[in-house]
Amino acid sequence: MKEVKIETTLQVFDNIKELPEALQALMSQASEARQKAYAPYSKFSVGAALLLDNGEVITGSNQENASYPSGLCAERTAIYYAGAKFPKAKFVKMAIIAGSQLHPTLTPIPPCGACRQAIAEYEVKQDTPIELYFMGETGKVVRSNSLGNLLPLLFDKSAL
Ligand code: THU
Repeated sequence: MKEVKIETTLQVFDNIKELPEALQALMSQASEARQKAYAPYSKFSVGAALLLDNGEVITGSNQENASYPSGLCAERTAIYYAGAKFPKAKFVKMAIIAGSQLHPTLTPIPPCGACRQAIAEYEVKQDTPIELYFMGETGKVVRSNSLGNLLPLLFDKSAL
């Protein structure tokens, strides 16, 4: 038996103002998208803004459904739209902002496991890291320089 230790490294910024201006702008676009979330059931709104290598920014918000599993997270709304509209573009960076409508969300909210798996598909496909930035409504911002950092031992096409 051999023990394997898996480590990951993230960067934590105390405040959005510590980010370069272009990133602050991308996070603002995510925040605007969050205002368009349709989240009457969870009352938890998420916005995502995805920068492509062709300069386009695709935004998404969570879209819920009375049949709960039929809803979709903000991150996947954005990446699937981007993949459908610009199939040749690479995904460069994604900003994500999330929070409850019922109480203040002051800690960074990472993308859920299903979204990590979905984003990983594109990182593997394009063979270039996708940078992620995520935060709550205010406060710290976490940066991951690739999706892979958030999903060790990922399942991808190499297994098929
Ligand atoms: N949600 C997202 O949009 N992204 C995530 O990464 C986590 C969860 C949404 C799904 C659902 O509409 C609500 O947040 C509560 O889970």
